[in-house]
Amino acid sequence: MKKITIAIDGFSSCGKSTMAKDLAREVGYIYIDSGAMYRAVTLYSIENGIFDGDVIDTEKLKKAIKDIQISFRPNPETGRPDTYLNGVNVENKIRTMGVSSKVSPISALDFVREAMVAQQQAMGKEKGIVMDGRDIGTTVFPDAELKIFVTATPEIRAQRRFDELKAKGQEGSFEEILENVKQRDYIDQHREVSPLRKADDALLLDNSNLSIEQQKEWLSEQFGKIVNK
Ligand code: DC
Repeated sequence: MKKITIAIDGFSSCGKSTMAKDLAREVGYIYIDSGAMYRAVTLYSIENGIFDGDVIDTEKLKKAIKDIQISFRPNPETGRPDTYLNGVNVENKIRTMGVSSKVSPISALDFVREAMVAQQQAMGKEKGIVMDGRDIGTTVFPDAELKIFVTATPEIRAQRRFDELKAKGQEGSFEEILENVKQRDYIDQHREVSPLRKADDALLLDNSNLSIEQQKEWLSEQFGKIVNK
């Protein structure tokens, strides 16, 4: 069967990664969470005094960016890939509110995007990959055979994020999370470099009222239509 490239873009916390991971596992493809890469750069910036309070030392980050290597390795316990920053597992650290609230300005920097896009394109050279993010169908893999753009209302996305954090025993009020979701939507859509937008040839999926199972079925169907053509 021919291998294809699958790009899944959309707003934050709309379940992109769940559907991307499940599809990758079902069809035996590599799964890459590109948001995790921007989160890892943000964590690096916080831990190395580059992101101090609200100020980013862009000169320092520009120098450091070539030494920031992000990779993914399967976690045998969860069966899903964990994110590694320069060889260290940072999967849990990059999901905290501290990183979530600082990742948008880092991901809006052109030189950060350039470095991440180059790493992402190298990961997808052989095809057989499902990558999710904001600019995968528009910038990273404009020739992807299957492109999906996922959306859901901000309230539903905030509720999903709230439930996720609670399940992990982390703090966060619903209002605070909703505010963060809306703020990130705004920055993601209005930044100068690679703003979040639907590629013209992407399929639109509003999953506000879909169960994970229904969404999974829909995606498998779209995949089948392309590989069996
Ligand atoms: O999908 P996520 O919430 O983990 O993404 C974290 C941040 O990274 C989000 O604010 C947008 C940004 N991002 C991006 O700019 N481009 C991508 N391809 C993926 C994520």
